[in-house]
Amino acid sequence: MADRPGCRVCGGDLRQFVDFGRQPLSDAFRLPDASEEEFFFRLAAGACGTCSMVQLMEEVPRDRMFHADYPYLSSGSSVMRAHFAAVARRFLATELTGADPFIVELGCNDGVMLGTVAAAGIRHLGVEPSGGVADQARAKGIEVRKDFFEESTALEIADAQGRADVIYAANTLCHIPYMASILNGVRALLKPSGVFVFEDPYFGDIIERTSFDQIYDEHFYFFTATSVSAMAARHGLELVDVERLPVHGGEVRYTLAPAGNRTPSAAVAALVAEERRRELTSAATLDGFASRVEKIRGDLLTLLQDARDQGRRVVGYGATAKSATVANFCGLDSGLVEFVCDTTAAKQGRLTPGTHIPVRPPEEFRRSYPDYALLFAWNHADEVMAKEQAFREAGGRWIRYVPDVHVL
Ligand code: SAH
Ligand code: TYD
Ligand code: ZN
Repeated sequence: MADRPGCRVCGGDLRQFVDFGRQPLSDAFRLPDASEEEFFFRLAAGACGTCSMVQLMEEVPRDRMFHADYPYLSSGSSVMRAHFAAVARRFLATELTGADPFIVELGCNDGVMLGTVAAAGIRHLGVEPSGGVADQARAKGIEVRKDFFEESTALEIADAQGRADVIYAANTLCHIPYMASILNGVRALLKPSGVFVFEDPYFGDIIERTSFDQIYDEHFYFFTATSVSAMAARHGLELVDVERLPVHGGEVRYTLAPAGNRTPSAAVAALVAEERRRELTSAATLDGFASRVEKIRGDLLTLLQDARDQGRRVVGYGATAKSATVANFCGLDSGLVEFVCDTTAAKQGRLTPGTHIPVRPPEEFRRSYPDYALLFAWNHADEVMAKEQAFREAGGRWIRYVPDVHVL
């Protein structure tokens, strides 16, 4: 796991712009009596000088992250459930109207998107290596292949089930370093008339909001229209549409098609031009981001230390993967954050990775409100704050650190 010689997409030279130091696996919640040594790696990000792709400097082996006990559940947010039902309905009304249509989803997780497709009786396949969440999808009647998607998997699927009209991946493509294998697989599995649609956190939003906690082990790539367009071209694919999405703190949905098969929308050229105007991956932009990150670390630590010194209670809200970067980079511990509440049963009763803060059910938060709630799940702010209105009414305050440290 030494630093790679160059860009994982084109081999070009990487310029590192932020380094969070030694970090644990973001979703490795530990049992309190666990004795095995915790795994750490160096979390740092850089941008390619040739193709502009932003990526991690060090790669964590995939089996360490995605396995039977992977705890993240896509259905944990009502906003995201509605979002994915809407995506599915759109595919059903557009790309999946021909004879015997077929859709493949990479990283289907607990089946939050494919549930709607399966209910419509449309041929589908989820490819999901994390066994526990894959079982949850199967329990909903969804067809799942428990596997990592890559070129060999794609060839087998195409052989056994034919080519797909749609290949879809949400918050999954950015998790996969081995991009050449993926895109060769997509080419082999996609019908000439088909589309590959994926949505991931948008680097333009990460820069704008200084949402540095989007950087963690599982998030290997940070896409822009510019870098995706170059990446697609290397594999006979073309970026034909982009759509900005409000979910998860700002994402872009990219649509790729076999080169020459569809006319790119005006939105593609517009976003590429905007990225050029913003100089999204220039040294000045990236170094500015890194210094804002340092300021957030200092401000957050000062706020939490002051609260502790004044005898105020602080509880974390949402044991997100993102929060591993914040907590470990800022050096938080259970003296500063008493516990973190989270709805995920598989995280409750465990300790946060690296920082060993207890994770408890939200009922514990409601049983005795703290003075402050540190909103780790800031990407679900509207949903969480609406649900926890009584906390505010009882005098509680929310602490946020994106785009800067502030109290609400
Ligand atoms: N699509 C869901 C899940 C995102 S979490 C959502 O948007 O909420 C990322 C998922 O990608 C995990 O469930 C993980 O197991 C899966 N994954 C990781 N590598 C993969 C690969 N090579 N092929 C398919 N799925 C993969
Ligand atoms: P999320 O921000 O979606 O992703 P990641 O782990 O990749 O950073 O994680 C949200 C976490 O917050 C998840 O563990 C579920 C939890 N959660 C709650 O506890 N209550 C809520 O109301 C919501 C929406 C999420
Ligand atoms: Zn490159």
